[in-house]
Amino acid sequence: MKKNLVLCIMLGFAVVLQAQDIKLNAPEKRGGKTVLEALNERHSERAFVKKTMPAQTLSNLLWAANGFNRDDKRTAPTAMNRQEMELYVVFDNAAYFYDAKKNVLQRVVDGDVRNALGQPNITNNAALSIVMVADLNKSAIEHARISAGFISQNIYLYAASEGLGTVARGSFKGDELAKALRLSEKQAVILVQPVGFLK
Ligand SMILES: Cc1cc2nc3c(=O)[nH]c(=O)nc-3n(C[C@H](O)[C@H](O)[C@H](O)COP(=O)(O)O)c2cc1C
Repeated sequence: MKKNLVLCIMLGFAVVLQAQDIKLNAPEKRGGKTVLEALNERHSERAFVKKTMPAQTLSNLLWAANGFNRDDKRTAPTAMNRQEMELYVVFDNAAYFYDAKKNVLQRVVDGDVRNALGQPNITNNAALSIVMVADLNKSAIEHARISAGFISQNIYLYAASEGLGTVARGSFKGDELAKALRLSEKQAVILVQPVGFLK
């Protein structure tokens, strides 16, 4: 009886934990502007109107940034296919790890950690900020910086295609952000990129 009670509590806890995660829609892999049109419209934006990003747009954005476009490879290349880059997504009230394989956002922090992103004039009105994090067990930081550039351009092109605004941001608070996102010593924030709605 006692064993069953413990099991029920544990299962309940597991359900609560999973309920904090967000199962993303399947990403749409067709549509949008042509690559040439998106390149023509790619630019940095820093002024946003505060709005919630629709679920489908969120899924498409993250997939375009660094999702899997083949069984085991992604929309952004990495040196020697190390796949050292992972994305974290910072919203106003929580931060999530993007599990690209499962297409799930796993909640890693409750609460508002946007202060650690820096430049509140840009980030506070964005719908979200994507934080590009390198696993330095998998690759050297020099390669990770290049990998982040590819992800950043993917985000720029998706934003241009959808009429969203974005800007690559190197001026984040590295130590504070790593602490806020509970990163390990072998994880490093490489780049931050808010995405938002244009005025
Ligand atoms: C690695 C990198 C870091 C950047 N960091 C910042 C930043 O911290 N803040 C900012 O407002 N813009 C930042 N930018 C955006 C540049 O200022 C912007 O790309 C440049 O002015 C050219 O404008 P465009 O993107 O519209 O062509 C960064 C861009 C790159 C590539």
